[in-house]
Amino acid sequence: MKTNVNLLPYNSFGFDAVARYFVEINEVSELQTLIQSGELQKHKTLILSGGNNILFQNEVFDGLVVYINTKGVEVLHVDENEVVVRVRAGEDWPNFVRFCVEKGWHGVENLAHIPGKVGAAPVQNIGAYGMELKDSFLQCKAMDLATGETKIFSKEECRFGYRESIFKGDLKGQFVITSVDFLLKKSAPLHLDYGNIKAYLEQNGIEAPTLQQLHDVICTIRDAKLPNLKQIGSAGSFFKNPVIEAAQFEGLQKDYPNIPHYDEPNGMVKVPAGWLIEHCGPSTGSGAISWKGWRDEHVGVYDKQALVLVHYGGGKGQDIVELSRKIQDSVEAKFGIRISPEVNFV
Ligand code: EPU
Repeated sequence: MKTNVNLLPYNSFGFDAVARYFVEINEVSELQTLIQSGELQKHKTLILSGGNNILFQNEVFDGLVVYINTKGVEVLHVDENEVVVRVRAGEDWPNFVRFCVEKGWHGVENLAHIPGKVGAAPVQNIGAYGMELKDSFLQCKAMDLATGETKIFSKEECRFGYRESIFKGDLKGQFVITSVDFLLKKSAPLHLDYGNIKAYLEQNGIEAPTLQQLHDVICTIRDAKLPNLKQIGSAGSFFKNPVIEAAQFEGLQKDYPNIPHYDEPNGMVKVPAGWLIEHCGPSTGSGAISWKGWRDEHVGVYDKQALVLVHYGGGKGQDIVELSRKIQDSVEAKFGIRISPEVNFV
C-alpha cells in the first residue's frame, strides 16, 4: 500500500487530488486478500477504475483508493452465430470495442471510443448512438467488499436503466465488478439511426457501411464533439438528459417549439440537457448569453457540446462543483427542470 499518491493520472478531469492511501490490484486474488485483511473497514474506500466519470471535489481524498487494473480477455464460447467473451475489469473499453470490431463481432460498435475501463461500463450502463452496454451484456462477476466472495449478476439482477444499474443504486459501494461477459453476434443489422450517423455517412458517400466503417465514423463524430482528454480535462457528459412528464414537456414545447426530444416507452419524454444548457447562461459576470463555450480562468463549458464541463488546467474540483450548481440553477430558473449530474462526486 502506498501513501500520499497524486491522482492526477487517474482522473480524466485532471485534478491534482492526493489519495492518503492507494493500492493497485492486478489480480482478483489480491483484491480478495485485501478485503479479508480487514483493511477496507479501517478507511473510507474508493474503488477507482478508469477515473473518467469522477470528480474529486477536494484536494485530499482522506481514505484508501483501490485501483482496479486486472487484465485479460477470454473467449468462452463460439458457434456459427454467437460469441461469448469474458473481459476482466481493468481492460480498456475502447480497445475492447476495437478488438470486437476487428473480429467482426457485433454488439458494442456504437460504444466505440468511450473512454474508460470495462469494469465501470455496467455501473452506469454506458450508452451512445442508440446502443447501451446492456444490449450485449450477458452477466458479470462482482466481489462483495464485506466478505471477499464472488457473486454472478445476471442482466436482470443488474437492473439496468438509462445510465443506471444496481451497482449505482441499492448496492452502491458494496460490490466491485471483476469481469464482464458479453454476448456478441457474428452478424447483425447495424444501428445507424441515431443522431448524425446517417448524415455523416451520406456526406462521405458511404452507402452500406461495414462494421469497421461504422466504428471509425463514430470515433470521428465523437472526436469532433468531445474534448481530447490529452489536451483538456473532462468527464464526458457531466449531466444526465432529464426525463420529464409529457404534460410538462408540452408546456415547454409551447414556449420553445424547436426543443429536441426523444419519446420514452413509458410516456415520458427525454430532453437533451445539452440543449437546455446552451439555451441559458450566466446571469452575471462575463455577459455571455449562453453557457456554451463560457469559460473562466480554469474551467468552463465545452464550446462544441454544452453537456460537457471542462478543466483547462490549474483549477480545483470545487471550481467544477460551483459551475455545475450555477448551471443547474439557471436551467431550473428558465425551464423548471433540475438536471442532475451523471458524474460521481467524491
Ligand atoms: N444539443 C444542443 N446543444 C449542445 C449539445 C447538444 O442543442 O451543446 C442538442 C443536439 O442538437 C441534439 C441533442 O442535444 O439535438 C442531443 O445531442 P447529442 O446527440 O450530442 O447527445 P447528448 O444527448 O448530448 C448523449 C450521451 C453521450 C453520447 C451521445 C451520443 C448522455 C448524458 N450523454 O449525449 O454520452 O455520446 O448521446 O449518443 O446521455 C457520456 O455519457 O459521457 C457521453 C458522452
